[in-house]
Amino acid sequence: MRQSSRLTGFYKLSAQERIDLLQEFADLTEEQAKALSGAAGLGLTQAEHMIENVVGVFGLPLGIATNFLINGRDYLIPMAIEEPSVVAGASFAARLVRDGGGFKTCSDEPLMIGQIQVLDVSDPWAARFELLAAKERILALANEQDPVIVKLGGGARDLEVRVVESSPVGPMLIVHLIYDARDAMGANTVNTAAEAVAPLVAEISGGRTLLRILSNLADRRLARAKGIIPVSSLEHGEFSGEEVAQGIVEAWAFAVADRYRAATHNKGIMNGIDAVVIATGNDWRAIEAGAHSYAARSGRYTSLSTWNLDREGNLVGTLELPLAVGIIGGATRVHPAAKAALKLLGVQTARELAEILAAVGLAQNLAALRALASEGIQRGHMKLHARQVAIAAGAEGEMIDRVVRDMLDEKVVRLDRAEAILNKSRDAS
Ligand code: MEV
Repeated sequence: MRQSSRLTGFYKLSAQERIDLLQEFADLTEEQAKALSGAAGLGLTQAEHMIENVVGVFGLPLGIATNFLINGRDYLIPMAIEEPSVVAGASFAARLVRDGGGFKTCSDEPLMIGQIQVLDVSDPWAARFELLAAKERILALANEQDPVIVKLGGGARDLEVRVVESSPVGPMLIVHLIYDARDAMGANTVNTAAEAVAPLVAEISGGRTLLRILSNLADRRLARAKGIIPVSSLEHGEFSGEEVAQGIVEAWAFAVADRYRAATHNKGIMNGIDAVVIATGNDWRAIEAGAHSYAARSGRYTSLSTWNLDREGNLVGTLELPLAVGIIGGATRVHPAAKAALKLLGVQTARELAEILAAVGLAQNLAALRALASEGIQRGHMKLHARQVAIAAGAEGEMIDRVVRDMLDEKVVRLDRAEAILNKSRDAS
């Protein structure tokens, strides 16, 4: 049985002690533990099978966010990211949501959209009618392309035909092949199916097909998360719980009303989501494209999340966005650390992974808004930043902590200052 993910003092352990704990938590093999630690990560040979002109592999820190309770289940969350405070922020916010019973999540069926562009159609509305009348024939042809996914319960599900009355090159028809990708992200399967049915679409419509490619606005494949934070859990320092809760709602309102703020607000959400998407070997550009186009779906770019107070004054947050991720195929099955990250999460389906991502995104948003609406973001950031500056100045071992402490006390975190502190202590010894 999995233990609780509520791990106090996880940050105080050594990296090896953390790995040992993960191994026990998720029953990881020695090999999987080594893959996560970087001792046996992606090799050059594997990398050469993945992309072209390979010269090496590129590392990123892999951290673990703790405290996540999602639909009553405990998760330790692998996050690959270069930015300080993200992992700590997610863990902290997950603890706050845990106080309110944990995250509740849900998601749509894993439906992707394959687009086929049809040009030179003399009567687009009549062509639309003919295509919809031939729906079963087109879906059957799409399903001949991948019998395996059909056997697993996926495959072509529906056909939509949109008439675009005017574009820079005149009217066109856009056919949407709605395709259930099951536990795959689906790009390859959907693109193959779209290419396969295009000649039939051309024949039936009397037009000329051009692009045949999936849409990253995967708005048939949404995942959602909700969290309640007891107002008492939000109290900190000189700020009462009520003040922080109200501040978070007001900060969210800023993002709803203003696209300049919404971009940063959503970036904070994606800090968490991307880090898990990368750690699990998924395509984060696809996720980014889907998230931001979904945030602009009304024609006006706005917040992906919502924050409000309930009758008791508790803070309630929700997040909804397209999350087309897979747990089979692509890098998820080639990259040793991605495979181990999926094992650590213990996810059984792509939908479960998408729901975890939604919960992490909501947690990350909460962490950022809580800090921004109270003490500001810099205090938390500064400690790790000061560490990086101290190391860049040449501090080693115990000197790192000393240089960090002095810079934070002085509230001056700069390379020249770190070098001066180091020189002074060298002169003194
Ligand atoms: C920084 O990476 C993310 C934040 O700017 C997000 C936000 O402003 O909500 C802190």
